[in-house]
Amino acid sequence: MQRQPLVIANWKMNGSRQLTSQLAQALRADTGLLNDVTVVVCPPAVLLPAWQQEVFYDDVHLGAQDTNENSAGAHTGEHSLPLVSEAGAEYVLVGHSERRQAYGDSDQRVQAKVDSILAFAGQKLKVVLCVGEQEHERDSGDTVKVIERQLATALANVSAGQLAHVVVAYEPVWAIGTGKTASPEQAQDVHAFIRNWLQQQYDAAAETVPLLYGGSVKADNAPALFAESDIDGGLIGGASLEPEAFLAICRAAQ
Ligand code: G3P
Repeated sequence: MQRQPLVIANWKMNGSRQLTSQLAQALRADTGLLNDVTVVVCPPAVLLPAWQQEVFYDDVHLGAQDTNENSAGAHTGEHSLPLVSEAGAEYVLVGHSERRQAYGDSDQRVQAKVDSILAFAGQKLKVVLCVGEQEHERDSGDTVKVIERQLATALANVSAGQLAHVVVAYEPVWAIGTGKTASPEQAQDVHAFIRNWLQQQYDAAAETVPLLYGGSVKADNAPALFAESDIDGGLIGGASLEPEAFLAICRAAQ
């Protein structure tokens, strides 16, 4: 099945209103690209309104880097789905390794966030579920065991009918921000496992789920990664802060 290529920028705690204008204008200037590739930008939540002023839903899409599993209340510093949705987010990252490691996103909390996103406003939002192993887990041969545990817990309450609103991003933790990208073969091996696991759980519906690779994707390594049969695009950190580099990565997905 041919899935629409998908490239997501994760700005993390970086960026500015000036960079928002620069990247939005660079992306919107290439209408051919935006017809061929679904491009999503996940800025810090405080920059979502600035992005809303720069783009229209039919070209560059917006996303949130995380969400609280509650819809409102006494959760200082957190962001709710109603608020990020009102600020233009159509996608929500969940389970990023930086949140799993430093901000208490256990497998169970990731599950709760996945469930809340898919239950929001008649499934208006898409979940981007991030999974990935630590270097010591790969070294001990536990990669597949870790990925399977993360998938099984996060998607435990997700039905086949909801898969149209799910994206899975494989981000080996040892490749994030390190310059140590997984080889296309390493990435494809895990993506093939994820695709097979989804097919076993959900049958034909699994084919609709885009599988993204993230972890030191750059303009020079993107073509080989995206050429792999089970890699449908990328989740891009550092390189998404450089408009020309990010455009080159998006064009590699065309
Ligand atoms: O979410 C994407 C991010 O974790 C990858 O970061 O800088 O290795 O592209 P980077």
